[in-house]
Amino acid sequence: MQLHITLLPGDGIGPEITAEAVKALEAVAEVYGHEFTFLEQAIGGVALKQFGVPLPDQTLSACLASDVVFLGAVGAPEFDANPLELRPETGLLALRKALGAFANLRPAQCFAALAGCSPLRPELVSGADLLIVRELLGGLYFGEPRGLVSNTEAINTMRYHEFEVERVARVAFQAAQGRRHQLTSVDKANVLETSRLWRNTVERVGLEYPDIKLEHLYVDACAMHLITNPKRFDVILTENMFGDILSDEASVLGGSLGLLGSASIGGSVDIYEPVHGSAPDIAGKGIANPLGAIASAALLLRHTAKLEHEAHELEEAMRVVLSRGYRTRDLVGDSMNFCTTSEIGTLVTETLGEIADMRHSYHAV
Ligand code: IPM
Ligand code: MN
Repeated sequence: MQLHITLLPGDGIGPEITAEAVKALEAVAEVYGHEFTFLEQAIGGVALKQFGVPLPDQTLSACLASDVVFLGAVGAPEFDANPLELRPETGLLALRKALGAFANLRPAQCFAALAGCSPLRPELVSGADLLIVRELLGGLYFGEPRGLVSNTEAINTMRYHEFEVERVARVAFQAAQGRRHQLTSVDKANVLETSRLWRNTVERVGLEYPDIKLEHLYVDACAMHLITNPKRFDVILTENMFGDILSDEASVLGGSLGLLGSASIGGSVDIYEPVHGSAPDIAGKGIANPLGAIASAALLLRHTAKLEHEAHELEEAMRVVLSRGYRTRDLVGDSMNFCTTSEIGTLVTETLGEIADMRHSYHAV
């Protein structure tokens, strides 16, 4: 198949890890006979420097004209003092909004080989496998009114419309149908009106999915259960800000935030991006973990390209690389024995080829 991909490497470690995701996608294209083309555009701090805005018009038009968007990371400390509209993060939020990507899928699991890497006990995390479905276009991130009231007062608004809850709830129920048929909807309905609307709406949408076991949890309790009993979760559905926080917390299960990929779907063009940020402190040193970006590439193959087999094989290649003991620095603790960002990317692409050869010769005999 043919796929035209807009690349937005962005800031910090963004370009390094994006390069490895591209390597992985090129390997998939070569092994399985697809044609993927890439066009790079500026977003975030890079765009602020070059064009004076975090999401230039030409970047947005390129995204809208392509089949799918792959983003590295945005954010750089040099813009910390800027007003919000001139911050790198604002470019990403504007992009999500412009493309209409309202559902953010963030799978978190514990690779068997990495059970010892989590600060949590191995028996607690091994086998954990959950999916956070985060609402991406509503809540505090976008609610109006917002802004500085005066030098000593500021306002943000938590606002949700029923249709916004409904559409992301459907994505979550359908995701649960492809998994273990359990859905936990997370809110703060004991305090917030938006959460009461959220809970009632999810309950009503749930009537359309009688095969899914639905429960509701308050966000504070969920945060606790996530690290005391992560295996109790299958799909977690929640609003924008809660999902942002819970997904970083969930990354602890797998041993590193650098492992998580995400898919932002539901709009005109889907966006794939690792869950981690731009990590300016380690940028340019070759020590970033590219697996979150490569996991995002696998999600791209699965959800946008509908290439389930290729997605599965790329995930398998990552698993094999880890099971052979290869690690980036985030996963080795104090040890100095680690692979660079691009070494891990190359190992994944080589392993992908190896797995394909092995399956091929198996079928030939
Ligand atoms: C994420 C990030 C973003 C968010 C930032 C960079 C705007 O933290 O994707 O989780 O808060 O959504
Ligand atoms: Mn985040």
